[in-house]
Amino acid sequence: MNAMKKLIVSLKERSYPIFVGASIENTGALLAKENVTRGVLVVTNPTVKRHYFSKLSAGLTRAGYTVALCVLPEGEQYKRLAGIEKIYHAAVKAKLDRRSPIIALGGGVVGDMAGFAAATYLRGVPFVQVPTTLLAMVDASVGGKTGVDLKEGKNLVGAFYQPKAVLIDPSTLSTLPPRQLRNGMAEVIKYGIVKDRQFFRYLQSIAAQKRMPSRGEFETIIYRCCAIKAAVVRKDEREEKGVREILNFGHTFGHALETATGYRKYCHGEAVAIGMMLAAKLSGQMNLFHDTAAVEEMLRTFGLPVSGGKGIPGKKLVSIMLKDKKVRHGRLRIVLPLSLGRVTVKEVPENGVLAALAEEK
Ligand code: NAD
Ligand code: GLY
Repeated sequence: MNAMKKLIVSLKERSYPIFVGASIENTGALLAKENVTRGVLVVTNPTVKRHYFSKLSAGLTRAGYTVALCVLPEGEQYKRLAGIEKIYHAAVKAKLDRRSPIIALGGGVVGDMAGFAAATYLRGVPFVQVPTTLLAMVDASVGGKTGVDLKEGKNLVGAFYQPKAVLIDPSTLSTLPPRQLRNGMAEVIKYGIVKDRQFFRYLQSIAAQKRMPSRGEFETIIYRCCAIKAAVVRKDEREEKGVREILNFGHTFGHALETATGYRKYCHGEAVAIGMMLAAKLSGQMNLFHDTAAVEEMLRTFGLPVSGGKGIPGKKLVSIMLKDKKVRHGRLRIVLPLSLGRVTVKEVPENGVLAALAEEK
């Protein structure tokens, strides 16, 4: 096991640490450095509660905190406003005040929801992320995007609200089902393609051995992904400057696929993998990208799907894509790879996307 490493997301008064290699039991001690009061609300789901709540709670209690609990139903289909209301009621019951932290213990669904509740309860209470999926460790817990889905589209309601700290305990990956580990690898691979060719090569060297990363390699990977994300978020916290948009590589189509299938068929990372493949092919067709085969091989080696959407009319998917947050003046804007480690955002005509989709089926 590597020693705990600390990264800072530098955002002036909203700066915060990411502790990679922290121990869940130590959350209370790490929290003691923050200006928070002693009552905390932990938000989680039944599976994560079973595995990790007692460890977290014991550490918090030892450090002098009073711990209340809110258990949300499990699954993306419950990432809805109803869950946010449930957190508010738990917060009232726990008598949280404006300096009482909400702690998200779980994957990206719990993190996005707890974060949105923290952003809005009493117009904002402190928020701490304790991610327990690979996907949440490398992506969802960092950067302050919080929110919920509507039936019309993913993440359509939310707020930018940065946590006070992110505590990553990689040992929690030991209980994560293999499908969820693969799911997280999609976002890991994304970082290589959008920003870091050398990192992509590193992942290729693991893929060449036809295995998942080891525990030590996961710590290296998590640290590298968090460092990339922290650097991007520092430059463009609210996705206004055309910098953070690149992290949505594969997401426009991926989100549409998740929405069209009722948030049940694909895990987020799986849908993003299919979306990255589609974007790579589109970019290839425009003669902008020549490494589609390397992207496909990487996704396949880590057990991720490279096509999807069979049985869903292309027009329906495009109409959902048109609700994407990157759409401007009704035109689709898609993150396209230019080379491994470099992407751009381009307007792509609807018929181009429809043609690429038709080829998929
Ligand atoms: P998830 O939160 O649904 O977790 C996946 C499954 O793993 C769940 O069933 C959960 O109970 C289980 N689980 C979690 N930790 C576990 C553990 N240690 N051991 C055993 N089981 C465990 O899914 P996810 O992939 O973590 O997150 C996906 C969500 O994250 C999506 O809603 C997506 O939109 C969001 N997201 C947000 C951002 C952001 O910047 N805010 C970025 C990427 C993704
Ligand atoms: N997951 C994309 C972002 O945080 O910007």
